[in-house]
Amino acid sequence: MAMAKRGHVENAEASADQAEARARETEQQMTDDERFALIVSLIGAVPSLGVPRDKRIPENVTNMSAGYTPGVPRLGIPAIQSSDASMGVTNPGYRPDDKGATAFPALVSFGSSFNPKLIREEGEAIAREARIRGFNVQLAGGCNLARDPRNGRTFEYFGEDPYHSAVMAAEQVNGIQSQGVVSTLKHYTLNCNETNRHWLDAIIDPDAHRESDLLTFEIAIERSQPGSIMSGYNKINGEYASGNNHLLNDLLKDTWGYKGYVMSDWGAVPEWDYALKGLDQESGIQMDVSQWGSEAFTDRLRTAYKEGKLPKERLSNMVQRILRSLFAVGADNWGPAPKVDMARHLEIALEGARQGIVLLKNDGVLPLATDKPLKIGVVGGYAQLGVISGTGSGAVLPVGGFAGTLNIGGAHGMMGNARNLFILPSSPLAELKKLLPQAQFEFDGAYTPAESVFLAQRSDIVIAFGIRVEGESFDLADLSLPWDQDAVIDAVATANKNTIVVLETGNPSSMPWRKKVKAIVQAWYPGLAGGQAIAEVLTGNVNPSGRLPITFPESLDQHPRPVLPGIETPWRTPVTIKYDEGAEIGYRWFAKKGLKPMFPFGFGLSYTIFDYSDLKIEGGETVTASFNVTNTGKREGADVPQLYLTDAAGDKRMRLLGFERVVLKPGESRRVTLTADPRLLARFDGKAGKWSIAEGTHQVAVGKSATDLVLTGDARLSARKFGS
Ligand code: BGC
Repeated sequence: MAMAKRGHVENAEASADQAEARARETEQQMTDDERFALIVSLIGAVPSLGVPRDKRIPENVTNMSAGYTPGVPRLGIPAIQSSDASMGVTNPGYRPDDKGATAFPALVSFGSSFNPKLIREEGEAIAREARIRGFNVQLAGGCNLARDPRNGRTFEYFGEDPYHSAVMAAEQVNGIQSQGVVSTLKHYTLNCNETNRHWLDAIIDPDAHRESDLLTFEIAIERSQPGSIMSGYNKINGEYASGNNHLLNDLLKDTWGYKGYVMSDWGAVPEWDYALKGLDQESGIQMDVSQWGSEAFTDRLRTAYKEGKLPKERLSNMVQRILRSLFAVGADNWGPAPKVDMARHLEIALEGARQGIVLLKNDGVLPLATDKPLKIGVVGGYAQLGVISGTGSGAVLPVGGFAGTLNIGGAHGMMGNARNLFILPSSPLAELKKLLPQAQFEFDGAYTPAESVFLAQRSDIVIAFGIRVEGESFDLADLSLPWDQDAVIDAVATANKNTIVVLETGNPSSMPWRKKVKAIVQAWYPGLAGGQAIAEVLTGNVNPSGRLPITFPESLDQHPRPVLPGIETPWRTPVTIKYDEGAEIGYRWFAKKGLKPMFPFGFGLSYTIFDYSDLKIEGGETVTASFNVTNTGKREGADVPQLYLTDAAGDKRMRLLGFERVVLKPGESRRVTLTADPRLLARFDGKAGKWSIAEGTHQVAVGKSATDLVLTGDARLSARKFGS
């Protein structure tokens, strides 16, 4: 097995070397015009953003999306066509004849599954749907850390922990690239808020940055060799991400030895000299015109080249990196189109939703009795129509179209016109009816609290849905549910003791009614089969197994920034956000400050019970822990035991060291062994440029969540400095 694995790695390395050599040879045969053509991309027509079709896109190119770069047929270089994003192949009006793709659950839902295998399958499926449309670059791999529960794009990322996010993002990239499609990892780096994102200066201690957001990228890159890294919109410590010499040239390319290419986010390149600072491709150049007044890598870069300011070697290197990434995954050599089994893809979306749903509270009301003629009142959330998705560039037009869309207005920024409530056609109400044929259902649209109470009073059980649109280019002003839904839920919970709440949000919410309701189900944005998954969890056809990948705070007062700087200012206002918590994000912050969250990281209930025993720990260079997990309940279920560092030789700090999702039958036991990546036990020592583990006793714990630590032990580690 070890031999086979090594063989596989060697093959991958050999083909990466071949790709690099071929890229070099190919690039040498190109003209400068061809080189310059390859280092920019054009966005297709986006009616909602007022972007018309650019004349430079040949008329016979009908499969447009976020990016188009012409190929060089005489050298076997295909046109580069990129599509968003991490939750399916999007189509915000680019292709009027495209009848829709599989809309997978939000990444934060996959994050909750703690199941890397599942996100890999999702990646493979997305890439197949990309390929049949002619897209050879997928703008997936969202892995910014959830530093702020108001961040509009939390749903496009996996969670708050660097290691967990890295493992999940890497498997998505691996899935995509295994199908001959290049994937990005994005948005490099610290693009953790949307507020005035083009003018946002994200301030962080550089060493803490290495231990958090940068560590996510570092580990994900090692595990998946993404063809491209997308640089973000924001500044980091005063320098724009797309022109950040330190983060792009010094760290990513030199220290980490990254071989792929850096593409900018769309509208993130004000200056041509970003080419000198490590950016290899300017994306969606029309967006730079609307954002900054001109394109950077076309005429301006050509002038710099003529004047000798852009060296020939650098231009060649930009091109070689792009070619290498295409060749490394075989994007230039596709052969016949893959078979796309849309029914199978829908099953993957369904499984994603099932494993992503987190049961937060259950005072015995769930699962619902399937054999009783219950009167069930379903309230709100457009549950008669479907489930909602996040908005922005990642929103997927689903097969069959939306069950409804509503432009809700109000947000600013370039995505302002596109702030939409999207309803995917998977109705929880219809699915509940299928699974509970004995029950009588009535629906109430949560029109007013007073009206909803009428239905609550005449029901045995109320299932109230709470929804919130979150998305690109805006952050939430607070954690409440919009449109007075908190008041509706409060009113129905007062009227009916058996109230269950299902939340479709991308972030934690404030849940002021929390103590009054019997059960709370966090369904995130559950995708095109989301209604079915919700119904299955409520009825017990599926045993919930999702675990929170982000801490749910009691209130924003517990957050390092109770008030989000700049949230109230108009678009185009420079804003500085100091991420003073450094690497102590989420559960780490709560542990450090001794705060009790509403629901902790790693938490999620099940309809069965798991027990942990017999912890054995080995120390030395790193920590290896083995322990037994036993299902002591009456139903099959999946558990996600988590290994944490709680104290590093006297330095109290919390770090998730490992996790594994295990499926167990009643009475079944499994021995789980987890070995920590040593960087998780270390601090980054910027002066030495090395990771540093302190000599001494390191306390570790196996837990059901970051606050429910069941087994504890310690390991002696020797002092060492390593890496760079
Ligand atoms: C987003 C990216 C996306 C790009 C292309 C940007 O607005 O930030 O995540 O890939 O648009 O659509």
